[in-house]
Amino acid sequence: MLKLKNSRPLFVGGTRYVFQHPQHANRCVKVLRPDRTGAARKVLRKDFKRYLPERFLDDQLKEIKAYRELLTRASETLWRYVPRYHGTEDTDMGVGIVTQLMRNGDGSWPQNLEQMLVNGKDPALQAGIDEFTEAVGKLRILSRDLLPHNIIAVKEEHGYRVMLVDGIGNAELIPLSTWSGFFARRKTQRKIRRFRQRCELLLPRS
Ligand SMILES: Nc1ncnc2c1ncn2[C@@H]1O[C@H](COP(=O)(O)OP(=O)(O)OP(=O)(O)O)[C@@H](O)[C@H]1O
Ligand SMILES: [Mg+2]
Repeated sequence: MLKLKNSRPLFVGGTRYVFQHPQHANRCVKVLRPDRTGAARKVLRKDFKRYLPERFLDDQLKEIKAYRELLTRASETLWRYVPRYHGTEDTDMGVGIVTQLMRNGDGSWPQNLEQMLVNGKDPALQAGIDEFTEAVGKLRILSRDLLPHNIIAVKEEHGYRVMLVDGIGNAELIPLSTWSGFFARRKTQRKIRRFRQRCELLLPRS
């Protein structure tokens, strides 16, 4: 079992902690935040019911399911836009999802789009985002909405590699891949359009 409890997470999301894998420096382990799991339940008020841990645990399990489905049809192209999946591991903080931990070319941590877009327009970043949205449309990896804070921009020698780090799995994923191509495409296009609007809103007003 992986021991994570006593180390510091690299990133803290709204739902999960992201730890560096204790044995593999280029992998991360994602676990539910302690305040989102069992023990925290007792202190949550009744009207927070819909935020109770089951839902979060459920999301974690759905993501695992989604990754497994992706693995059955994964190509190298896919892993350019989604960090490579390395399965799950038991940890002292519950089930952990292990994926590739991305770094910028200079070794620093990549920022997500919410953090980057507030700095203003950047043609190189925009090119990375365009490549990403095009790939997302083709690869059928979308499930939840495309939110800027769930997408990171990895700085490479020539431009940015834009990747989806969260949001690949929920109940929609399976129907989406089995639906008629027309509806699947229409739905994906709508998500991409909304994503572009969200990005626009993050840009500073000029
Ligand atoms: N594989 C990765 N490589 C580098 N950074 C990552 C990776 N995965 C996540 N991050 C960073 O950690 C942050 C939190 O990760 P993630 O979105 O998976 O957590 P979460 O708690 O599920 O998110 P939410 O707040 O959407 O519920 C991301 O916004 C991103 O900045
Ligand atoms: Mg997230």
